[in-house]
Amino acid sequence: MINIIKVNSEQQFNETGAGIIASLLQSNPRAILGLATGGTPVGVYQKLVELYREGVVSFKQASSYNLDEYVGLPENHPESYRRFMNEKLFNHIDIPIENTHVPSGNSEKAAEEYTRLLEKAGQIDLQLLGVGHNGHIGFNEPSENLHGPTHIVELDELTRQANARYFPSIEEVPTHAVTMGIGTILQAKQILLMAKGADKAEIVAKALKGPITTQCPASLLQTHANVVVVLDQAAGGLL
Ligand code: GLP
Repeated sequence: MINIIKVNSEQQFNETGAGIIASLLQSNPRAILGLATGGTPVGVYQKLVELYREGVVSFKQASSYNLDEYVGLPENHPESYRRFMNEKLFNHIDIPIENTHVPSGNSEKAAEEYTRLLEKAGQIDLQLLGVGHNGHIGFNEPSENLHGPTHIVELDELTRQANARYFPSIEEVPTHAVTMGIGTILQAKQILLMAKGADKAEIVAKALKGPITTQCPASLLQTHANVVVVLDQAAGGLL
């Protein structure tokens, strides 16, 4: 079941996303959060930091598992997702850093270890997702077949170009990444998909109303029983 919330401003977008996460933590302080990177969640994380500073929410007993990470970037590389999460969220809230997990992209073995870690942790309570222009979620790219568990993928050129804005040159954008598979993502109790901007309107409409196909990984969300979608007016323009 997909519940679409369209908001009228950037502030409402971030407040709605952060509000859903904060409410979960207020009712379940030990919640297991699935977190995402990219530009979409930055304002949501900023709002969560504000709510933490105001004493509205605590992450003390929470834990988090990130969707993905680039292969071959040292952890302290400015564009590594571990560093992104530390700088945008973890360093500013009371989540114990040892409770935060970002997959390591350095070997298939490390990817398998992440799968075991997730199995041991139990079901993710809320999985935050953005969506790529080609319909990827995490780094699950359009393809003939999608993988269930955490695995290493070769990035589409379109994805490398979309992420090149964070690197000095396209050559420095990794060619591979490690990502939670669609199977893992769909096991979450609840999914919070967020998208903003007119450039996402087409892929959002395709994902939510189009055919369910591995060529648009985000369309697999239509099979999930509990999906909340938060969109600004531009990203929801074709719905
Ligand atoms: C990257 C991330 C995805 C993210 C996507 C969209 O590929 N691996 O998790 O959803 O980009 O990013 P943005 O939110 O910047 O559009």
